[in-house]
Amino acid sequence: MKVSPSILACDFSNLKEEIKSVENADLLHLDIMDGVFVPNITFGPFMVETINKLTELPLESHLMIIDPLKYIEAFAKAGSDIIIFHVEAKTDVLKALKKIKSLGIKAGLSLNPETPLRTLLPYFELLDVVLIMSVNPGFYGQKFMPQVLPKLEKLKEIKDSKKYNFTIEVDGGINEETAKLVAPYVDVVVSGAYIFQSKNRKEKIDYLKKLLP
Ligand code: DX5
Ligand code: ZN
Repeated sequence: MKVSPSILACDFSNLKEEIKSVENADLLHLDIMDGVFVPNITFGPFMVETINKLTELPLESHLMIIDPLKYIEAFAKAGSDIIIFHVEAKTDVLKALKKIKSLGIKAGLSLNPETPLRTLLPYFELLDVVLIMSVNPGFYGQKFMPQVLPKLEKLKEIKDSKKYNFTIEVDGGINEETAKLVAPYVDVVVSGAYIFQSKNRKEKIDYLKKLLP
């Protein structure tokens, strides 16, 4: 499994060192919230640009914002290697996906726990990433919702049977125990509190990386 630490759970007063402490990960997960799509506000493109200077890790920007299309270019210019937005956003999804691809970076769609997989049907061919939320987005440190496991299983089945290229990611409440539950279905786990609240982060990341399906 690949590991994408969510810096939402890090100590922002010590950002440079915090990012260094997870350098053995595969990606860095940046949670962008607008206070409209979710009940919390985080940061925008300027911060992505800053983070891009602090690490060699590929950056995945997880846009939890109501109008992703409007900001895709800014997040791409800021150094995002992957832009993921929500299928529930108030936007022209196809147009937004094509916009991301036209900027030469990877495109992903994310699904809230309550949103059914069929909402992705028109987009599977275009996607590089499908990000399944295992908590309601807005905050780190929430409890994993086991009811998303059948969704992950089904998605993996669809991916394998149709030979789609997208990677399957899961986001929310991932720790030592819940990572074992999702391991058979996912390529990437996002993890915030479990990694950043630990003193030996590199070990936690290595543990997750070594988990087998
Ligand atoms: C939730 C965010 C997640 C979150 C993950 O809205 O999208 O990326 O920060 O943090 P943990 O692993 O603590 O649930
Ligand atoms: Zn996220």
